[in-house]
Amino acid sequence: MRVALTYNLKRELEPTEGDDEPPLPADFYAECDSPETVTAIRAALETRHETHLVEADEDSFARFRTLRPDIVFNVAEGVHGRARESHVPCMLEMLRIPYTGSDPLTLALCLDKARCKEILQVHGIPTPRHIVIEPPTGPSALKAALDSAPLPAMVKPLFEGSSKGIKNKSLVKTRGELRELVTTVHKLYRQPAIVEEFLPGREFTVALIGNGPGLRTLPIVEIKFDTLPPEANPIYSFEAKWVWDTAANPLEIFKCPAEIPDPLAAEIADVARRAFVALGCRDWCRIDVRLDGAGRAGIIEINPLPGILPRPEDNSCFPKAARAVGLKYEEMILTVLDEACRRCGLPAESSEQRPRRAKQRVRT
Ligand SMILES: Nc1ncnc2c1ncn2[C@@H]1O[C@H](COP(=O)(O)OP(=O)(O)O)[C@@H](O)[C@H]1O
Ligand SMILES: [Mg+2]
Repeated sequence: MRVALTYNLKRELEPTEGDDEPPLPADFYAECDSPETVTAIRAALETRHETHLVEADEDSFARFRTLRPDIVFNVAEGVHGRARESHVPCMLEMLRIPYTGSDPLTLALCLDKARCKEILQVHGIPTPRHIVIEPPTGPSALKAALDSAPLPAMVKPLFEGSSKGIKNKSLVKTRGELRELVTTVHKLYRQPAIVEEFLPGREFTVALIGNGPGLRTLPIVEIKFDTLPPEANPIYSFEAKWVWDTAANPLEIFKCPAEIPDPLAAEIADVARRAFVALGCRDWCRIDVRLDGAGRAGIIEINPLPGILPRPEDNSCFPKAARAVGLKYEEMILTVLDEACRRCGLPAESSEQRPRRAKQRVRT
């Protein structure tokens, strides 16, 4: 098949023009992919398909139109706005070109953490209480909002991922800390803050692959906060993801499969599957789960475009879970592609067939 791989590359921050424009946060491009990740996905696709790279930008529509690939492998996070993850899928729907992963509505809903939680609540799927504080807020409205917030709480930008804007100090215990963090989110990230009841229990993330009756969960990953520096809060913050844990000095921060009793594993897998279905996810997704004070699982976040760093020492949850069932990086990518092909009625090659064909190729 002719496959296009679409992505957004991480970039250096450009200096902002004019004095009036506030600077972009240092983590502005955190969700985007490195050249190394794009190269690894491309190499995986090329083992079976003619593969073309399409960086997701203003020219992508024309590129897709000329190229007319059979299917697009989409990992483009988009750059601007809360519907940014939907930009490429919208173009592809307009051109009627099939693509991997969730559709524009699901991608936009999952990026907006409050909208996502509203849907979970309607479906009776547990998720911590929250309020949204919009900017700009006058002093009395801000005070009223702060007074109504749960404490301790996590303060996060409303529509970001990859721990953008979630720092070690984003776990707040006092109204003063809460005010400071909410104001920082408004100013730096130029968007509402979501203030969420802090779930104090263990944290897990669940990778899912498939659709409908074929939807399967991969082994559950636990995030082990005891591997963080002693003064760190027990959260998977920007520092935990990108500063304290590096490829040069990797932390043993993931345990996969998580060491948990079977009933808890079943409960976590069940809430993750129900969340996948409730949000209308497709092909693949990674869902963050945490236990409340009573040990019950609640959904923290749904990632329909999960991070997939290729090197094991980079500690990336989805590839880690895939490796736990024997799926190497390349096989993981091809499995996701196969799921999308099956869903779209294109020829898919199951992972059981793949090694046999590879051997045949070697013999001839
Ligand atoms: N309500 C919460 N209770 C406990 N920890 C939380 C909560 N919300 C976020 N966190 C912590 O912050 C991390 C990042 O939050 P998350 O909503 O998953 O954002 P991101 O999109 O950046 O991954 C989580 O992995 C978790 O450790
Ligand atoms: Mg998360």
